[in-house]
Amino acid sequence: MVTISVIKADTGGFVGHTSVHPDALRRAEEILAPQKGPLLIDYRVAHVGDDIALVMTHARGVENEDIHRLAWDVFQGTTAVAKGLKLYGAGQDLLGDSFSGTVRGLGPGYAEMAFEERPSEPVIVFLADKTSPGAWNLPIYRMFADPFTTPGLVIDPKMHSGFVFEVLDLIGNRVARFSCPEEAYDLLLFIGAPSRYVIRRVLAKSGEEPACATSTQRLSLMAGRYVGKDDPVMIVRCQSGLPAVGEALEPFARPMLVAGWMRGSHYGPLMPVSVEDATPSRFDGPPRVVALGFQIAGGRLVGPRDLFADPAFDAARRAALELADTMRSLGPFEPHRLPLDEMEYTTMPEVLKRVEKRFASV
Ligand code: F6R
Ligand code: MG
Ligand code: MG
Repeated sequence: MVTISVIKADTGGFVGHTSVHPDALRRAEEILAPQKGPLLIDYRVAHVGDDIALVMTHARGVENEDIHRLAWDVFQGTTAVAKGLKLYGAGQDLLGDSFSGTVRGLGPGYAEMAFEERPSEPVIVFLADKTSPGAWNLPIYRMFADPFTTPGLVIDPKMHSGFVFEVLDLIGNRVARFSCPEEAYDLLLFIGAPSRYVIRRVLAKSGEEPACATSTQRLSLMAGRYVGKDDPVMIVRCQSGLPAVGEALEPFARPMLVAGWMRGSHYGPLMPVSVEDATPSRFDGPPRVVALGFQIAGGRLVGPRDLFADPAFDAARRAALELADTMRSLGPFEPHRLPLDEMEYTTMPEVLKRVEKRFASV
């Protein structure tokens, strides 16, 4: 069994919330390098916007204490660098002071899966900035349940029976499974509300074989107020009975509106970009996603290939930018601004409190 763990945190932005500093990435490399061999099979230090993502392979299984502690140590290290350079929001995603067991509840987000490596094992690691975990609901549904995106569901006998979706209720702290295509309408009932219901995993119908895993932590819910964003990551295994690489990328060819962007308080288009262009600056956005393709070979990470660095996604980027203009034209009005219940986790309630006494009963 090989495990792939993607653990991410924003430990300081350069400049503002637009990117990461090369010194912080170097520090992460320095801390991970000596662990290649003793603890890790392989690793890559990746980034999107102001988030550092550690892509690690190992044999320890998911939610392993040593792996999570290593990530925690890396983020302490990159925070120290960020503090030295007075980067913006240094250490903003590290909520706890002490590590115990896993990084769950401590601020960093993570997605992990353990599996028997196939004769060839293509995997895509998606990293997004300026949005939240529910942003993956629509693209996952399209990848694994929509034959207009994934013709393999119709054509490939290994995919024809469909997939099982595991959905987490972020508010009720519950989890449920839906088997598709039979229960697609039931599934959509929930995942159509991505601020509350988030797809956590997709499994092959044959059993517990993982096909997709997402990070489902929401910083704002954890901290009860607005602290950075919960910029999510996702791992998707591809080919041979799973979505082809191109089927897994296809949902991003049309822009979708996701929550996040400026102050974590606005709907905006999720724009697929190359690693080089993953530096959200306009209105601190718009939200972005990168796709890192790997072949896993005996646990080694062969790659990444920068999968959205393809001119075929230019039209999606143009459409996203047009949508960005349309949404921006609404200024402080919904539905550009998030609905009131979502704004509870921002700094807006403080302002509301100040002016609330103006209202008299009628
Ligand atoms: C969005 C994000 C930024 C900040 C914004 C204000 O995820 O992190 O848009 O919310 O730059 O930041 P502060 O309040 O720290 O000045
Ligand atoms: Mg930030
Ligand atoms: Mg971020």
